[in-house]
Amino acid sequence: MGKNIVQKIFEAHKISGEIKEGSLVGLKVDQVYTQDATGTMAWLEFEAIGIDRVKVPLAVSYVDHNMLQSNFMNADDHLFLQTAAQRFGAYFSKPGNGICHQVHLERFALPGKIALGTDSHTPTGGGMGMIAIGVGGLEAATVMAGAAFEINMPKVVRINLRGRLQRPWVTAMDVILTLLKMLTVKGGVGKIFEYGGDGVKDLNVTERATITNMGAELGATTSIFPSDEKTLAYLKAQGREKDWVEIKADDDAEYAEIIELNLSAIEPMIAQPHSPDNVVTIREISGKKVNQVCIGSCTNSSYQAMKTVASILRGNTVAEWVNLLINPGSKQVYEMLSREGLIADMISAGARILEASCGPCIGMGGAPGSGHVSIRSYNRNFHGRSGTKDAYVYLASPIACAVMAIKGEIIDPRDVGIRIDETREPDKFLINDNLIIPPKPNTKDIKIIKGPNIKEVPVKEPLKKNIDAEVLLKLGNNITTDDIMPAGSKVLPFRSNIPAISEFVFENIDRTFSKRAMEAKESGGGIIIGGENYGQGSSREHAAIAPMYLGLQAVIAKSFARIHRANLINFGVLPLLFKSESDYDKIEQGHRLLIRDVIISIKGEQNFKVDNITKGYTFEVISNLNDREKELILKGGLLPYVRR
Ligand code: F3S
Repeated sequence: MGKNIVQKIFEAHKISGEIKEGSLVGLKVDQVYTQDATGTMAWLEFEAIGIDRVKVPLAVSYVDHNMLQSNFMNADDHLFLQTAAQRFGAYFSKPGNGICHQVHLERFALPGKIALGTDSHTPTGGGMGMIAIGVGGLEAATVMAGAAFEINMPKVVRINLRGRLQRPWVTAMDVILTLLKMLTVKGGVGKIFEYGGDGVKDLNVTERATITNMGAELGATTSIFPSDEKTLAYLKAQGREKDWVEIKADDDAEYAEIIELNLSAIEPMIAQPHSPDNVVTIREISGKKVNQVCIGSCTNSSYQAMKTVASILRGNTVAEWVNLLINPGSKQVYEMLSREGLIADMISAGARILEASCGPCIGMGGAPGSGHVSIRSYNRNFHGRSGTKDAYVYLASPIACAVMAIKGEIIDPRDVGIRIDETREPDKFLINDNLIIPPKPNTKDIKIIKGPNIKEVPVKEPLKKNIDAEVLLKLGNNITTDDIMPAGSKVLPFRSNIPAISEFVFENIDRTFSKRAMEAKESGGGIIIGGENYGQGSSREHAAIAPMYLGLQAVIAKSFARIHRANLINFGVLPLLFKSESDYDKIEQGHRLLIRDVIISIKGEQNFKVDNITKGYTFEVISNLNDREKELILKGGLLPYVRR
C-alpha cells in the first residue's frame, strides 16, 4: 500500500512505537527552535536538566515577541538568551532579525525533516514540506537534551486543492479563512492536514506557509505541503538549492479523511471578532468603519505580500481616522523593501513602520483604542489579545487590509478602483545573515548571564494519594491560553519570573484568581473546570507553569487543546475529562472536590471517582494518559522525570 507524506517522514524518523493512528510513536528530531516569550523558560529548563550542549543537529533561539525596552528586564532576557545559546551550542537570531517562523522558513527549514518550535505557529514550516510542530518549552528542552519526541500518531487528513485562486484579489489567507469557516477552531484537533491536488501548484512556498501557519487555528497538530518544483525555486532563491529533496505522497496513499477545496471558488474572506473561525465573505459585512489596520506577523509578511501592499498604498493616503501599522516579518524582507523604495511608498501613504517582530499581534504596542475596529493580516483575534479588552479585531489578507486602510471601512478589495501590481516571490532573495550568530565549539566556559528578574523554574511536588481541592474557576468552551495567562506589554517582561507572572493568571476573567489560588494552596490547592477545547491557542507554557505555581492540581474539562494538555502534564497538573458531560452543569466555583485514589487510578483503568463534598454526590472523570504521560504525572512533571 502507498504512503502519504506524513507516514514517509515519520517512518524516516521513527525511534520507537508504531506509525498507526492513535499509537505512541517516538521520533528523532532534526531541528528545535525557541522564541523569547517561551524561550527564556525553555533555556532555563535546559540548564536545569544539566546537559552540556544541545544534542539535536540544529537549535535556534529567536527574539521576536517582546522587543519593548521600557526597563532592564527585556534587555536582560535577551542577553540571557544570547549567552545561553552560545553556552549550549545553538544559533542565536538577534532582536531585529525577525519573527521566528518567517526567519526559520527563509534560512533553516528543510523539506523532509522534523522541527519542533516553542510556539504554536511552528507549522509554518509545513509550507516547506517539513513536519513542524509546536510544543511547550520543557518538551523542547528535553528533546534538545537528547530525548525522542513522543506523540500519539494523529489522523492524517488530505486536503485536495483544485483550480486556481482568482488573483490578484484572492490570496492564501482567504484559503485558510475558508477552511476555518468550514472546519472551525476544533476541526483539526488530533489531525495533521496534508495538502495535495493540482491546486498545490498554484501556490508558492510562502503562500503555502500562510496556510500551514493558520492550521494552528484549526487546532491541527500540524499541516504539510509536498516539496516540489515550487519548493526548489524558493530554496534556490534563498541560496539553499542543495537543501531540496522531493517529497510527495504515493498515488495510492491512504488517508483518514479527504476534503475537497476548489481554489477558484474562494472569495476575499474576513474573520470577525473574537474567533478566527467566525468567518464570512468581506462583502457580507462591508461598510463598517475601521479605526486601525495592522499588516505583517508570522502569517502574512512575505516579500510578495509586502510588495503587493506597497503597490496598493503607492500614491494613496491612509484614511483620516485610520492608524496603519506595518511590521515586516524578517530583516530579509525589510531590507529588500527598503532597498527597492517600497518602505518609502508605505511611509508616504501614512503607514507607521514597526520593527521586524510580533508587535501588535501579541499586544506589544499598537493596541487599538477602546471599542475600536482593528483589521489585521494576523492569525488570531481572541478577545483582549490586542491589548484592548473591548476592541473588535478582524482578520483578513494583507491586500484587503491595505485597501481598507485607504478606504477607512470594511470593503471587498474587488469593489474599489485601486490599481494593484500582482507580485510573486523573487528569483533571488537578499541574503545577509549578520544577525544570526552561529554556534561555536568548546563553549563550556561561557558564562550564562542572568539579570535580577530571571528566577529558577518552579517544580511541582509529586502527586499525593488523593486530590482534595477547591474549584477555583468554572469556565466555558474554547478558553484560550491568552485567557489563562495574558501576554502583552504589562505581563511579558515577567516571562522569566514565575512568582511575578503568576499574579496575572486569568486576570482578564477574574482579577481575584491568583489571590484566591494562593489561599487555596494552603489547604490542598485548586481545580479548574473547563468546557470544550480548553487551552486552545498559543503554546505558552506559562499558562501551565503559573497556575501550577499557584497550586493548581487538576483541570476537569470536556476536552483539551493538544499543546496545552501536554504542557499541563509536563508540569504535573492532571488533565481530566468528564465521563458524562452533564456533570459539568452541576459543579460551581467554590465547591470542594475530592478526587479519590489518584495514583491507583492513573496506574489502573484511568477512571476516577470524584466526591463533590459541598453538594454531597459522586461523579466520574477519566484521563487518557499514555504510558509516558502517566510516568510524568506521577513524578510531578517532565523536569523531575528527566532529572531522574
Ligand atoms: Fe508572533 Fe503573532 Fe506569530 S505573536 S509568532 S506574529 S502569532
